Amino acid sequence: MSSYVKGLEGIVAAQTKMSYIDGAAGKLEYVGIPIGDLASNSTFEETVFLLWNSRLPTKAELEAFTKDLRASYALPKGMAERVKTVPTTAEPMHMLRTMVSALAMHDADPNANSVEAARAKSLKVLGCAPAIVAAYDRSRRGLDAIAPDASLGFSANFLYMLNGEKPTEAMTRAFDICMITHADHGLNNSTFAARVVISTLSDVYSALTAAIGSLRGPLHGGANEGVMKMLNEIPSVDKAEAYVMDMIARKERIMGFGHRVYKAKDPRAAELMTLAKQLAEDTGNMDLYTKSHKIEQVMEREYAAKGIYPNVDFYSATTYHCIGLKLDLFTPMFALSRIAGWSGHIIEQLADNRLFRPGAEYTGPHDAPYTPIDKR
Ligand code: CMC
Repeated sequence: MSSYVKGLEGIVAAQTKMSYIDGAAGKLEYVGIPIGDLASNSTFEETVFLLWNSRLPTKAELEAFTKDLRASYALPKGMAERVKTVPTTAEPMHMLRTMVSALAMHDADPNANSVEAARAKSLKVLGCAPAIVAAYDRSRRGLDAIAPDASLGFSANFLYMLNGEKPTEAMTRAFDICMITHADHGLNNSTFAARVVISTLSDVYSALTAAIGSLRGPLHGGANEGVMKMLNEIPSVDKAEAYVMDMIARKERIMGFGHRVYKAKDPRAAELMTLAKQLAEDTGNMDLYTKSHKIEQVMEREYAAKGIYPNVDFYSATTYHCIGLKLDLFTPMFALSRIAGWSGHIIEQLADNRLFRPGAEYTGPHDAPYTPIDKR
């Protein structure tokens, strides 16, 4: 008897201690802690420790973890040169996927798959991925890469390597909140991809590479760039409603809305909406925020009954724009953070592995005749 479910909706394919989602209630917790509490009180480093250890760290543990992460900021020897060889026309997500894959070639023991080895590799990739993105963005602007500054936290260090100047506390905190809210999200498509790949006992780099490839799709993390493109196409707030209504009439999907799991407002969207509004005020981008808010109101009127609400990507677009990031860096930002979640899932999978190998419902013919080629 067939039990085929298109898109695997509702299928439970893994166990995790990392994040819990109640889609009907619009609730997300990391290890039981509501995402809003983490966004208000935690740091990205502490959140990663939480996800990887199933508990908050003590002060000493957080200091030790932060020190280890900072020690992994620098790119392995030869990687900086490799980034410079990437065509400056490449999309950053293609570049990032390729460079994370290349990190395996700079690892003396890339296939080590013990839980300890996977943690060490994850820490290295998490720590140095920002240097890859920053170095590439500077390379395409004709600028030299800036070495990481291990006196800075994850978020400040990335913005420093990207822009060549230390970010303000407000910008650092805003970026950190983005990193916290994007760090993990159950068995989403890219996380599933990572778990599928590591379940063959391949290697951490292959699993992360697959995950990055998945994330860039417009139905997944790539939606944040789609949102920004839409906002750019709408000339002013008063044109927002007509623009969205035209899209609806053409039966097009509005990027940044809808979710397989949430049938209420994504709690990350609620956090990022507040952040986007504040940043828009601070950076003179209120038009962008107001446009976004107008789109949300129209969508609520048209689609709330169908359970389609803003997701994490909707207000992250305004937030990243206000932080000063170029549009094609939005999805890479999602990836920098989600490396934490993917890695945690890879570690969970390795700790209790069984090969993923689902079945397919065969819908073709049976006992078909083999017709010789000159008779077809
Ligand atoms: N705009 C308009 N209609 C939509 C949208 C949307 N954004 N999302 C879903 N629908 C409609 C869809 O057309 C379909 O209608 P009908 O039943 O009349 O054919 C119905 O809702 C169900 O859609 P589905 O594609 O079967 O639902 P799903 O659970 O597979 O969709 C989704 C999830 C995220 C792919 C979808 O909502 C979507 O395409 N959203 C836009 C892209 C987006 O914002 N993606 C980011 C997701 S959250 C962050 C992340 O995971 O990366």
